[in-house]
Amino acid sequence: MSQIPFSSPRDTFTLVGGVKIPCIGYGTWQTAPGMTADCVAAAIDAGYTHIDTAWVYGNEPEVGEGVRRSGRARESLFITTKHWVTERGYEKTKTAIDTSLKNLGLDYLDLYLIHWPCVEKLRPDWAEVNGDTWRAFEEAQRAGKLRAVGVSNFQEKHLRALFDVCSIRPAVNQIEFHPGYTQPETVRFTQEHGMVAEAWSPLGSGAVLKAPVLGEIAAKYGKSPAQVCVRFALEHGVLPLPKSTDPARMAANLDVFDFELSAEDRARLTNLTPSGFSTYLPEDAPADAIA
Ligand code: A2P
Repeated sequence: MSQIPFSSPRDTFTLVGGVKIPCIGYGTWQTAPGMTADCVAAAIDAGYTHIDTAWVYGNEPEVGEGVRRSGRARESLFITTKHWVTERGYEKTKTAIDTSLKNLGLDYLDLYLIHWPCVEKLRPDWAEVNGDTWRAFEEAQRAGKLRAVGVSNFQEKHLRALFDVCSIRPAVNQIEFHPGYTQPETVRFTQEHGMVAEAWSPLGSGAVLKAPVLGEIAAKYGKSPAQVCVRFALEHGVLPLPKSTDPARMAANLDVFDFELSAEDRARLTNLTPSGFSTYLPEDAPADAIA
């Protein structure tokens, strides 16, 4: 059995630097245009205090509208967005941060992430490019525009190269993580170096939910396959960002604090035949085609 130090979705991980981040977030990737504001407002109603978006999702204005519509105090919510690959480098990144703040209608972000690392295959000076982007992140954090800064889809070598040049360490590494695709080396490296690992597509974009093993395990605990996936991430110390457009599912995906997976069931989920894998890898994917 694996206990987790949380009993509510509003319980927090503490990021390096002391910022607290709610242990489950609401993801907004692939929510149909025109639906995001309603979804974000409904998610906040359902109990989410942590919302994750990205410039490339094209929904930052709608996320901001959903936040305002919720009527919640700004400081009671945790909002993350991400820097896109076309905006790499110091000067462009400074502008990208201001653009995202304006899109969201916010004075500050709780967390800002490099969405994908620049990699060797794209540019021989990839490490320098990531370092230049990061310098603008650090400056914006010092200026109070970003409470915490981090990365997404970084593997060990990308993180090591950033550590060599940064003066503020990344607080988070957000990666694809779900039953059958758990990137154990990257999760281990991330956590051993004081970062919080976050899971995008913790439900394998819905595809994983259909796996018979997942159905069997879910029935055993009297929970749904989606709840098992959310719990599975938390039991790995990984912060899940499930998404749903359905208010009842949004709420159900937070109801994961009344059961614990056995070590055997966790292993079965870890070793599940991969399904729901996005196929996005930092070294292989064409940089402009990946979100
Ligand atoms: P829907 O929006 O219709 O609920 P991920 O978070 O891994 O990207 O997965 C999101 C997908 O999983 C969406 O297609 C979403 O569909 C579906 N989903 C989310 N929560 C549940 C749930 N509790 N039961 C079934 N499907 C779900």
